[in-house]
Amino acid sequence: MIRPAVELAAAARPTSPLTVLVPTCNEAENVAPLLHGLQAALGGLPEARVLFVDDSTDGTDALIRKLAPGLGIEVDVLHRERPSGGLGGAVVAGLASARTPWCVVMDADLQHPPELAPALVAEGERSGAQLVVGSRYRAGHRAGGFTGPVRSLISRLCTRLVRMAFPRTLAGISDPMSGLFAVRRDLWESAELQPEGYKILLELAVRTRPSSVAEVPYSFQPRHSGESKAGYAEGMRFLRHLTRLRMSGTRGRMIAFTLIGASGMVPNLIVTWALVRAGVHYLLAAILANQAAMLWNFVLIDSVLFHHRRSGRGRRRLARFAVLANADLVGRIPLLSLLVREARLGPVWATGATLLAASAARFVITDRALYRPAE
Ligand code: GDD
Ligand code: MN
Repeated sequence: MIRPAVELAAAARPTSPLTVLVPTCNEAENVAPLLHGLQAALGGLPEARVLFVDDSTDGTDALIRKLAPGLGIEVDVLHRERPSGGLGGAVVAGLASARTPWCVVMDADLQHPPELAPALVAEGERSGAQLVVGSRYRAGHRAGGFTGPVRSLISRLCTRLVRMAFPRTLAGISDPMSGLFAVRRDLWESAELQPEGYKILLELAVRTRPSSVAEVPYSFQPRHSGESKAGYAEGMRFLRHLTRLRMSGTRGRMIAFTLIGASGMVPNLIVTWALVRAGVHYLLAAILANQAAMLWNFVLIDSVLFHHRRSGRGRRRLARFAVLANADLVGRIPLLSLLVREARLGPVWATGATLLAASAARFVITDRALYRPAE
């Protein structure tokens, strides 16, 4: 008889100690069935334990503490009085306090089958992978747990988007949005994680670039009780997270910096046009328009691209940025005349070349001096 892949996977037993890490936010109605599921799954594994990282206000933590003693498995609760980073922040806090060589991250609402926790670790041991992802998109399962076609569609679109953004890193991960995965200690300790909301697996995969990843298929179950906490705000957070991850390398930052700089053309031309129409001399208009473009660039660069490296007062950052943006003019003019007279470039090509060179120089100064990374 051919057994389905899920059943096969669930039968595997690991030998390494492991922690099942469960982030909880108001899951009082789910923790009892979850704990019973985990009791069955982990029973007989002497070095398996459960760690809840709880941000609830409904007494979920107290309930877990009440239920835990009768179960015969070790259960800890880390309750965060001042939660930060949402679901991802909770997972990172749990990883930091876990003591075992493996952690399995799993939702509390029984959308992830508890019996898969040991199976994921067993698969990691068998394959040598540092990261084992529970995948809803592999053959041998149904992803029936989405509440309605809209959520299912959104999830699929996000998966597409994410895979397009990181084609190489995510080549071996069919479900990069999964909330169910096992991770080996050397991997999670190798990166400084900056979680932001739900997509902690994505954060982990992109920041650590694991050399090998395994997958275990499973069927996504309907939520046992209560509602998903993901909504519009979480969606926006996801887009911000994705942008930030994409820009985390120097090359990505430089491309974004150049694009932002180029987008400054728009306010520049609008202001020039308006001023000239109002009768201002075109040279004065050009200088003023340059300041408008500079402000536009500053807002985008300061609030998006280098948001995480900001220090000191906003006014001071703006002043330094303005000096750099205008110094640019001073530096470009001699370079321009050199290119036209010595290299015999046409003035338009020469201007284009000086703009690119100035943008690269501004990027290096901005990246290394104005928004210096923390040591
Ligand atoms: N500690 C903590 N803090 N836990 C949280 C927080 C938080 O701010 N927000 C959510 N959780 C917990 C929930 O209590 C639950 O155990 C788990 O994280 C997942 O939350 P849900 O609200 O049920 O998420 P979902 O079902 O919409 O999304 C899940 O599936 C997605 C795939 O479709 C998550 O696993 C996502 O990471 C995953 O991408
Ligand atoms: Mn859920």
